[in-house]
Amino acid sequence: MRKKVVIANWKMNYDFHETTSFIRNFLKIVFERKINHDNKEIILSPSFPFLHISNQILQGTTLNIAAQNIHQSDKGSYTGEVSAFMLKSLGIRKVILGHSERRKFFFEKNDLLSKKIKMALKYSLDIIFCVGESSLERSKNKQFEVIKSQLKETVFHCSSDEMKYFYIAYEPIWAIGTGKTATIEQAQTMHEFIRSLFFNKYGQSISDEISILYGGSINELNAKDLFNQKDIDGGLIGRSSLEMEKFLKIVQS
Ligand code: 13P
Repeated sequence: MRKKVVIANWKMNYDFHETTSFIRNFLKIVFERKINHDNKEIILSPSFPFLHISNQILQGTTLNIAAQNIHQSDKGSYTGEVSAFMLKSLGIRKVILGHSERRKFFFEKNDLLSKKIKMALKYSLDIIFCVGESSLERSKNKQFEVIKSQLKETVFHCSSDEMKYFYIAYEPIWAIGTGKTATIEQAQTMHEFIRSLFFNKYGQSISDEISILYGGSINELNAKDLFNQKDIDGGLIGRSSLEMEKFLKIVQS
C-alpha cells in the first residue's frame, strides 16, 4: 500500500536545545492528545550534529529521522563532509537528496545527484528525492520537461528493485519559502505526470506504490486540500514544520 508521509525539513534552523525539545514535546503531545498517526509515516530532518540524539529520542517510536544531505563518496579527504557510511553507523536510515537549495547554493547537478543516490543505496538508505521547476521554466511551460529530465538523469538510472528505497518530493522552486503554494490543480497535475513517468519506466505496481509528496509553502490551512488529491501522498514541510501546532495540524491533515 502506498504510504502517507509527512516530513519536517528543518533545514539550517534549530540548535541542539530547540531540536531535542521539539521532538520531546511533539512525542508528548501526540501521546497526550491521542493523535492517530498509525497509518502515516512521520519523518523529522534535523541538521547533522543533532541526528544522533534525535534518533535516540525516537527509539521505540514509529517516527523516523532523515539526514538533509550526504557526500557522494563513503570516505576520504573531503573536509567538512558527511557520508552515508557515517549515517548508517548512527542508525540513520533516510536522506533527502536533490533539494533545490542544494542545487542552487551548492551547485548540485543531476550527475552529482546520481552519484549521491548510488552512495545512499550502497548503505541501504531510503531517499527522499526532490524535483522542481523554477518560475521562469513554468512561465515558459517547460515544467513537465524539466521534471522529466531531473528524474531521467538520476532516479531512473536505478533498477525496479531499488525503487522501494525512494520517495519523490515535487517542490516547485517558486513555492519554496515564498508563501505561494502551487494550486491544487497544478500540484495534482504534476503528481499525476510524475506517477505516469514511473508507470512508463517501471510499470503499474511501482507507480502505484511510490509515495509522491508535495513541498512548497504547505501550511496548516492548505495541507488538507493538497493531501486529499489522489496522487499527493503527503508533504515535505519547511517553515510550517518549525512551529509545533502548525506541524501537528499538518500531520492530522
Ligand atoms: P517551505 O515549506 O518553507 O516552503 O519549504 C519547503 C521545502 O523546501 C521543504 O523541503
